[in-house]
Amino acid sequence: VQRSLVLVKPDGVRRGLSGEVLRRIEAKGYTLAAVELRTATPELLAAHYAEHEGKPFYGPLVEFMLSGPVLAVVIEGERCIEGFRSLAGATDPTVAAPGTIRGDLGRDWGVAVQQNLVHGSDSPESAAREIGIWFPELGA
Ligand code: GTP
Ligand code: MG
Repeated sequence: VQRSLVLVKPDGVRRGLSGEVLRRIEAKGYTLAAVELRTATPELLAAHYAEHEGKPFYGPLVEFMLSGPVLAVVIEGERCIEGFRSLAGATDPTVAAPGTIRGDLGRDWGVAVQQNLVHGSDSPESAAREIGIWFPELGA
């Protein structure tokens, strides 16, 4: 069965939306395989966001992700990778469709990085890689 790595980013945890995100995941029918409140580290984020290194938003993104705890979650279910991306909505919360996590709960706060509440793996390869980074004990 497919697994995906989901993060409730520091903005979501700060705003008390962790439960709302988990509620939507469970309401959709996916299973929680792991849930842990964590403070990221620069090393962990360098691995997690390796594909974005060098982009203009990389520095602010890492700084934002270090600004408070994140809820790291592994979800499980058929096609849960694309399913969670669909629940999350578009990257930019201003234009993310209503009905989605970002569209219903997110907005532009006028800061350097898009604070968009959640992360979700974008492919089976990313999911395996990211679960290995956040939950090495789970294996792929
Ligand atoms: P994730 O699920 O968090 O990976 O979001 P995504 O897959 O929709 O976006 P992507 O992987 O392309 O970018 C990772 C994160 O970097 C985003 O979620 C945003 O927080 C931030 N980001 C991406 N693109 C931009 C951008 O063009 N400008 C700014 N300021 N931030 C961005
Ligand atoms: Mg991404």
